[in-house]
Formats: sequence, C-alpha cells, structure tokens
Amino acid sequence: MNLSTKFAGITLAHPIFNSAGPRDVTLEELKALGSSESAAIVSKSCTLEHREGNPKPRYYDFEGGSINSMGLPNLGYLAYKEMYPQLTSFNKPLISSVSGMCLADNMKIIETFCGVPEIDAIELNLSCPNLVGKPQVGYDFEQTRDVLDAIGKICKKPLGVKLPPYFDMVHFQEMAEILNKSKIQYVSCINSLGNGLVIDPEKEIAVIKPKGGFGGVGGKVVKPFALANVRKFKELLKPEIAIIGCGGVMNGVDVFEHILAGADAVQIGTALQQEGPDVFTRLLAEFKQVLQKK
Ligand code: DHB
Repeated sequence: MNLSTKFAGITLAHPIFNSAGPRDVTLEELKALGSSESAAIVSKSCTLEHREGNPKPRYYDFEGGSINSMGLPNLGYLAYKEMYPQLTSFNKPLISSVSGMCLADNMKIIETFCGVPEIDAIELNLSCPNLVGKPQVGYDFEQTRDVLDAIGKICKKPLGVKLPPYFDMVHFQEMAEILNKSKIQYVSCINSLGNGLVIDPEKEIAVIKPKGGFGGVGGKVVKPFALANVRKFKELLKPEIAIIGCGGVMNGVDVFEHILAGADAVQIGTALQQEGPDVFTRLLAEFKQVLQKK
C-alpha cells in the first residue's frame, strides 16, 4: 500500500509524524523519533536562549486528554543547529519548530536556520498559550500579518505555521485571508486549546502548578475542534497551502477522519507523550487496517 504524501516540497513515506512539543527536546529524544515509524522529525519549538520552562508538575493526563503548561523548555536554537546534522542518518524530513519570544528573535533564529542544509522546513509557532504576559500571536490578526510579512521576506526554506484553534467563522476567514497573502506553504492546525483548567477533587487543587493551574488542553477532547479547523482551512486556503491535522489523534480512525476533513498529513501530540515513539507503529498499523477495510 503506497501511503506517501507531500507537503511544502517534502515527501513523507506515510502521513503520520510527531507534533512539535512532546518528547522532542533533547538529542536522545529526537534520535528516538528518528528510529521510530514517525514519517518525519519535528523538534521542540525553540527560542534564542535555553529555557528551563515552568515549574513542575506542568503536564497531566486526565480522562479525556492532557493539560500542559510547559513554558517552552528547550535547549536554545544554537543547540538544535548542532543537533540537526546528527539526525540525517534516519533519512526522514527534519522540521524545525521556532517560537522566539518576539519578532526580532524569530528573525534571527530563522535567518540562521535558513543556512542549515539539514532542515527541510521551518514551522513557526504562532500559538504557545503558556507564557505569562504573552498573548498567542495567532489570536492577534494584525500582529500575525506583520510577522508573516517580515519572516516571508527572509525565509528561504519552506515555511509553515502552527495555528491556535479558532472558534468563529469570521476569525477563520480573516486568518485565511492573511495566510493566503503570505509565503507560508503549510499550516498545522491545531495547537492545544489554550488555558483550560483541570482540578483534582481529592487534593482540592489544580493538577498542574504554573499559571494557577491553567494550561493548554490536548488529546481526545480536542478532536472535534481540530477537525473543524482542518476542514475550514481546507475550504478557505488556496490549494497550494498544505494542511497538517493535529489534535485528538489517538488511533487509526482519528488519522482517517483528519484526512477526510482535508489534512495532507497528521501530527501526534498527546498520544506520543502518553505512549512514547512506539505509538507510530500502532497508529500506522491501525490506519492501514482502516484503509484496507474501506
Ligand atoms: C508550549 C506549549 C505550546 O502549546 C506551544 O505551542 C509551545 C510551547 C510549552 O508550554 O512549552
């Protein structure tokens, strides 16, 4: 069965790979993704400087999904620049997620990464919900337009954006108009649903510590919103912009639903955090079974 798919000039052996975020911070974790059946390797959203991230506990699995307020723990962009050449032996596309703290940081990181031959695409994260005092860029349409204008001018690699979920038809239209005028070649939708709250009724406290317990929600409960975002952007974006579905993919049927909604490929977040890189073997086998049955 040929499951290969293409987006942003990248060919994948099959459509399932990791989302930026879980188990992609260290060289060891990135090598484990390389050895797994993930169709690509995406590295953790990086910043100029190394960051420890928010105080722990900062990730929690609950019945319907996960909540996190990691706070962008990462090794700093120069550490990733050194790592990428060590990941080429896996022979799979390498995508670098970038989440600088401001436009100047993003410009500097992306300018540097454009000179790194091992990087196949840059995924600009417009949607981290976990930074105190920093709104998600993707919810500020003017800022998004300015950022994409500026980065479009300097970025020589295929460029994608990680979007937050939208919940309003006018917002979908406004964002799609901006994206259609930009140089981006793909969107990944969605990032976590920002600022949920999960409470432990036994301990009578929030399950994660940072930000009074507020954090990004992922996993099973977000799937309807992920599918809606994939579908709507498939309708509104020009066909040259590929769509990577992300959100609530826990089994092979979920992969299939994302593809039915319009995804060219699918990224895995919570299920990867929960099961580790072997999750790709299971998801790929289940997805093949769905297709065979169909
Ligand atoms: C983090 C969470 C996100 O959803 C994101 O897009 C980037 C970073 C974090 O808390 O580390």
